Amino acid sequence: MNIIKDINKELLDIFEKAGYPVESIELKPSQRKDLGDFQINDCMKLASVYHKAPVQIANDIKELLDKDDKFTNVNIAGPGFINITLSDNYIIDSVNKIVPNPEDLIEKLSDETVVIDYGGANVAKALHVGHLRSANIGEALKRLAQKVGYKVVGDAHLGDYGRPLGFVETEIKRRYPDLPFFDENFEGNYDDVELPISNEDLEEIYPIASAKAKEDEEYLEEGRIITNKIQHHEKGYYDLWKRIVDISKADIKTCYDELNVDFELWNGESDAVEYFDDLDKLVKEKNLVRESEGAQVIDVAEETDKIDIPPLLYIKSNGSISYATTDLCTLVQRKKENDPDEIWYVVDHRQSLHFTQVFRAIEKLGVFKQDQLTHVGYGTMNGSDGKPYKTRDGGIMTLKALLEEVYESTLNRINNDKVTKEEAPEIAKKVSIAALKYADLTPSVDTDYIFDIEKFTDIEGKTGPYVLYSTIRMKSLLNNAKDMDNNKISYIDNDLKEMYLSILDLPNVLEKAINAKSLNDITDYLYIITSQFNTFYAKNKVLTEEDLDKRTTWLTLTKVLFEISNTLLDILAIEVPEKM
Ligand code: ARG
Repeated sequence: MNIIKDINKELLDIFEKAGYPVESIELKPSQRKDLGDFQINDCMKLASVYHKAPVQIANDIKELLDKDDKFTNVNIAGPGFINITLSDNYIIDSVNKIVPNPEDLIEKLSDETVVIDYGGANVAKALHVGHLRSANIGEALKRLAQKVGYKVVGDAHLGDYGRPLGFVETEIKRRYPDLPFFDENFEGNYDDVELPISNEDLEEIYPIASAKAKEDEEYLEEGRIITNKIQHHEKGYYDLWKRIVDISKADIKTCYDELNVDFELWNGESDAVEYFDDLDKLVKEKNLVRESEGAQVIDVAEETDKIDIPPLLYIKSNGSISYATTDLCTLVQRKKENDPDEIWYVVDHRQSLHFTQVFRAIEKLGVFKQDQLTHVGYGTMNGSDGKPYKTRDGGIMTLKALLEEVYESTLNRINNDKVTKEEAPEIAKKVSIAALKYADLTPSVDTDYIFDIEKFTDIEGKTGPYVLYSTIRMKSLLNNAKDMDNNKISYIDNDLKEMYLSILDLPNVLEKAINAKSLNDITDYLYIITSQFNTFYAKNKVLTEEDLDKRTTWLTLTKVLFEISNTLLDILAIEVPEKM
């Protein structure tokens, strides 16, 4: 249900009836609530079309609006702006319609299939702060898209292919040369071989191995050869690679679990590369590659480009596949396995050139059209120096360390009167995740923002803890109310009207969010409704109110707000604790 759309349709009819047919009408929330809830400015534009004074057109429209009992206080301001106010009855009736199920406010906006590529974790490498926004934004977009009707497939798209893993095996081989994985004559089952390496070891090995490969020519060469063996599924090396992927994946999963992030697909780049032959056939058919300094490239520049778009690197001069080519393979794979209408890539905005190249190349290959593919490029989370957030000593901040930091800060702020020592850790966990997610989703997707732990974990202000606290307050009010069987709104005043209008605006908030592929409209909205509720709650003694109509109205309103708040927090993948 979307009353704004209903009213829009009705206004179109009225304009037509009055003799001024128009394509669309702009119904703007009024800046001056004393004049009306909404303002219609279209008479100004129509004046030149019909060669009439705008005020004359406005008067003709007003005459019809006055006859419609949805509207009251229709008045004309200035040279021809029409102010309208929705009648109390219309507002109350509209809210009552959704009282039994507030989710009726959520419209189906699409039935398309969309693959959302988010996560992008790399095997054998710790998740770091850079992965946080992809996980948070991707998961929330996925849940939002599902709510508004999309069929959604989330794909973790693991970075499990390429030289870094060859180097990791090189290092393992040097440390444990006697492991059966390196023994050509080994006859047993690799799955039974005990591996003396944990996920922590992998995280320690990865940077060391990469650094050694940069300095040591011999190491580099060995790494190259091993990478090649892995990529050709050579016995032993390939089996070790699979074990490394499993260890790492298990750890990556636990980390995503903490963020309430879950993927339908755990495909990796290596799965996509299986489609290289299919891709290469298309590339050859279309005759798209050319030699450039020993490498093979695909030209993707277009005449209208304002900046230089270099060719896509297809095959590197050393014969290996580039990152862009793994993405082309992934598109061939997705076409075949999921055949989606759209694909959204939730990846750091610094990769925008990469995606421009990939999207153009795949269109040239006739697999997907560019307008089916969207790079949802997000800004970075920065430290107070304006650079990507680091540890105190300037190192890369792992996601685990970041979560721990936010958890500690939240635990210190937990209210000891309400929460026992035993309950505190679990509650602090949920609240800390809420604090981090809400802060991460509040700036619009493409902007950078500064990590400010004190601000994010504060229970006052536009924060996750504030929204959670307010939601829990709604719930406890409902729990303490005994006469909730009479679910009906029958009373209105200025404060209530504002809340009713907020409630009825929900479908437009969701539509705006999905169109922008950004969650900030939802975090804003949550802050608005919880703040409105808190103001109302401070002013009124709901439970002891004697006027039954008032009390029932208040409690019904609280129930609706509580359910909306829960639905939206669930879209943001934020869990609500029992208390805090
Ligand atoms: N693993 C990549 C990285 O760490 C991100 C992958 C993003 N997704 C994609 N389809 N390219 O940079």
